[in-house]
Amino acid sequence: MHKLLKGVVLAGGTGSRLFPLTKVTNKHLLPVGRYPMIFHPLLRLQEAGITQIAIVTSPEHMGDVVNLLGSGQELGVDLTYRVQDEPGGIAQALGLCENFAGGDRLVTVLGDNILADSLAPHAAAYRAQDGGARVLLKKVQDAERYGVPRFEGDEIVEIIEKPANPPSAFAVTGIYFYDAQVFDFIRQLSPSRRGEYEVSDVNSSYVRHSKLTYGILDGWWGDAGTIDGWHEANALARNLAYESYPSTQGL
Ligand code: G1P
Repeated sequence: MHKLLKGVVLAGGTGSRLFPLTKVTNKHLLPVGRYPMIFHPLLRLQEAGITQIAIVTSPEHMGDVVNLLGSGQELGVDLTYRVQDEPGGIAQALGLCENFAGGDRLVTVLGDNILADSLAPHAAAYRAQDGGARVLLKKVQDAERYGVPRFEGDEIVEIIEKPANPPSAFAVTGIYFYDAQVFDFIRQLSPSRRGEYEVSDVNSSYVRHSKLTYGILDGWWGDAGTIDGWHEANALARNLAYESYPSTQGL
């Protein structure tokens, strides 16, 4: 069993929900608190000891992303870049990382997810698992905006993407732990009604194989991909500083 955990940060998409803020720049380069948005997932991975990280973004924005992050040295990470030629969804973007994964396990973080909690205990819980997948949940007021789990007892029996009538009050956050089987599941997917390969369908594949576990985030969590979400994330991250990022010391 492969125990090495590598990271993937998904930073593709058109950022249409933040237009015109995203007319000339990638959503993940917009400021959130003291940092460009994408620093947050990268530094959460880094402080959890996950330093081999692939970033997936679009051809239009790859240059800017590389200008910002370079090799990753300044953030204490070792970056690999993958291009998603057309925006086809989160699952499609992750599918580009099969060679990078090389059979190892992955933690995939959506580049617009901002969270107060350390990922270290969640990574440890996943490492203790015998393969399969693990998602992180957060109780929210507006579950219809997210992937939502349906429970029977304590068990997740289904994950539904943006349901009109959410079957629970939990969002599936954009932090996903997967073993190498994820790439087989991605190959079997069909596009959803909105024409994308959905991460909720990947998670539901693990549910069908009884291989999905979950953890719950205690601290605040936000998805900065909408204008309200972006403002909320900025307020929440206003004073968030990462000890592991040397440039913020002494601020
Ligand atoms: C995506 C996923 C959704 C998840 C959310 C978390 O939605 O499709 O399942 O709950 O991220 O941030 P999006 O923000 O791309 O609409």
